[in-house]
Amino acid sequence: MNICVIGAGYVGLVTGACLAEVGHKVTCCDIDQTKLNSLEKGRIPFFEPDLEELVIKNLRKKNISFSSNLVQSIENAVLILIAVGTPSSDNGTADISKVEEVAREIGSLLSSYKVIAIKSTVPVGTCAKIEDLIKTNLKSNCQFDVISNPEFLREGSAISDMFNADRIIIGSESSWAANIAKEVYLPFGRPILLTKRESAELIKYASNSFLATKISFINEMADFCEKVDCDIEDVAAGMGMDSRIGGRFLKAGIGFGGSCFPKDLKALLKAGEQIGCGFNIINSALAVNSAQKMLPIKKLKNILGTLENKLISLWGLSFKPNTDDIREAPALDIIEELLKEGARIIAYDPIAMTKVKNIYPDRVVFAKDCYESAVNSQGIIIITEWDEFRNIDFNRIKQSMKMPVIIDGRNLLDRHRLKNMGFLYSGIGRGTML
Ligand code: UDX
Repeated sequence: MNICVIGAGYVGLVTGACLAEVGHKVTCCDIDQTKLNSLEKGRIPFFEPDLEELVIKNLRKKNISFSSNLVQSIENAVLILIAVGTPSSDNGTADISKVEEVAREIGSLLSSYKVIAIKSTVPVGTCAKIEDLIKTNLKSNCQFDVISNPEFLREGSAISDMFNADRIIIGSESSWAANIAKEVYLPFGRPILLTKRESAELIKYASNSFLATKISFINEMADFCEKVDCDIEDVAAGMGMDSRIGGRFLKAGIGFGGSCFPKDLKALLKAGEQIGCGFNIINSALAVNSAQKMLPIKKLKNILGTLENKLISLWGLSFKPNTDDIREAPALDIIEELLKEGARIIAYDPIAMTKVKNIYPDRVVFAKDCYESAVNSQGIIIITEWDEFRNIDFNRIKQSMKMPVIIDGRNLLDRHRLKNMGFLYSGIGRGTML
């Protein structure tokens, strides 16, 4: 099937490449010509495992192409996927202006029946709004349907998420449009749920809010564990064995970040506020998360007293491993707070350093690896659970540090081993230890 994806960003590119891989003819459209030029050469402007290979492979097979020519791309397509950004506006609501802009343009270009699917995360009622907008801008008398088709891709594992999706959600008022969308996704062999449009829109927000709540729940439980000498890793394992609860997203740590959870929770809260719906649980999930990000600093201060002039080493800056994304990354809050406390910072991340360097060109020093970052430091905070941090020679690290303190914000390391080596080690929710 011919598919036009509008917005060659993270969601658009991953979706486009996967649709091409299962045999569709996909054109990814964007207004950024420089981006399109590099995509045409198979170069991806951000880091996502396996995406580049998939794009190159499908460029060769001529299943994927990149274009700024919306007229022709729309003309050829049966399905148009809108995958442009919906960032937080100043008051926390989702800013759908880019989706609206695209809708006006589509309206003015339509000349035959199309299914227009909104992939971007949009508030309940947006599909209906976009349908009206397209209608108002129509130059011809043609028919179209707007459907909701939210994405559930996780950065760092987006390709495998797409091929192994737990579900594909299609929210449609028209069974004709729903059938076309179903046919597009059939080759993935994953469960498809058909709903009305508004429900599909909410499924995205409700899912992200629930997952974020699960994280805040376990983080709050971790806090209790420290006070009553329990181990949150055991507690989470035991809880997760109950199939009604499930073990995923029960990893205690220094809180959630990224481009989705914080933004989507705030947007849902705001939407609730506008219609008198309090969402107490979501409110609390966000509040717990804000406090959680500061936990490593509280722990450091308990051990070191003042942080004034102390050299603190940060391991990991991206909001999670396998991505260079630092949007809403706990690392940024930690850096800000450490600077306020007068600490000196040296940081290392396998791939996200350049982005943080752009924000802190002078006030943070960047190291070439974990070893360099540890030299003379009085504390290490593990912020992101990069695999390479597991295989470090901690004898070498200890010898080079001024004070052998490790705050393990992701419970990544073997605490018994480190304590036996003489480290002052503190994880998250692992009993009253030090
Ligand atoms: C999320 C959703 O999972 C995805 O379905 C949606 O479409 C986009 O938002 P993403 O933000 O890429 O994906 O990452 P995810 O793996 O969900 O992690 C989000 C944050 O939660 C990260 O900061 C991660 O470190 C944290 N997290 C996750 C925990 O602290 N504990 C966990 O158990 C799981």
